Amino acid sequence: MPQKLIVAIDGPAGSGKSTSAKIVAQKLSYLYIDTGAMYRAVTLLVIRKNISNKQDIVKLVEKTDIELDFVDGETKVKINGQDVTKEIRSPEVNSMVSEISKIEGVRTILVNKQREMSNSNRGIVMEGRDIGTVVFPEADVKIFMTASIDTRSERRMKEYHEKGTTISLEDVKENLLSRDEIDSQRDVSPLIRASDAVEVDTSKVSIPEQVNIILEEIKKAAYRKGIKFSAVNLKEF
Ligand code: DC
Repeated sequence: MPQKLIVAIDGPAGSGKSTSAKIVAQKLSYLYIDTGAMYRAVTLLVIRKNISNKQDIVKLVEKTDIELDFVDGETKVKINGQDVTKEIRSPEVNSMVSEISKIEGVRTILVNKQREMSNSNRGIVMEGRDIGTVVFPEADVKIFMTASIDTRSERRMKEYHEKGTTISLEDVKENLLSRDEIDSQRDVSPLIRASDAVEVDTSKVSIPEQVNIILEEIKKAAYRKGIKFSAVNLKEF
């Protein structure tokens, strides 16, 4: 039996999932997987190929290689070998990604890929919208992160500005609200908190506190499974 844990982190955009998930994965030398990056890659592909028919989109995704690689704190994304790390975060992709994520055939392909990624001997921290509910309903640790819409909008705007993209706070807020609505209302795998997930409101706690809450949950799960748990000093981050 591999001595590893599966940690599922779900929540809406800007809730702080990526920040905490990356730190936790780095501290434990676990594999970090940002599933949103996969839906973003598919969306970019659809924009580039300019297709709208759902069956055509699914066929295209079936024959496309999407590669994620976590290097120096960043998820590098490749579509058929081409680096698209920057392009998948564009406002254009942001405005279409929730619609593309509703397509059942696309989700089936990506969920299968996500499950395959857990077939290694390493523990895994996977973040998204449906990880604790659909991808790994048996995950050892489930976290559901939330934050107020104002906090989330400000965080996203800061990220845009750091990357040199000019966008108003109102536009960021509107995009987040519309994605929240589509992501949580869709028929297939909507964004919902798993009944056994621990909820963390990141408007109220600092990043080191969020990380500690998650690490405490992992510690408990490791204890339950009889797995040795060790984490390096939090101050390094
Ligand atoms: O985490 P993110 O904001 O980069 O995700 C982009 C979009 O991808 C999000 O609005 C909905 C979709 N998504 C999804 O449907 N299921 C996931 N597991 C992850 C993301």
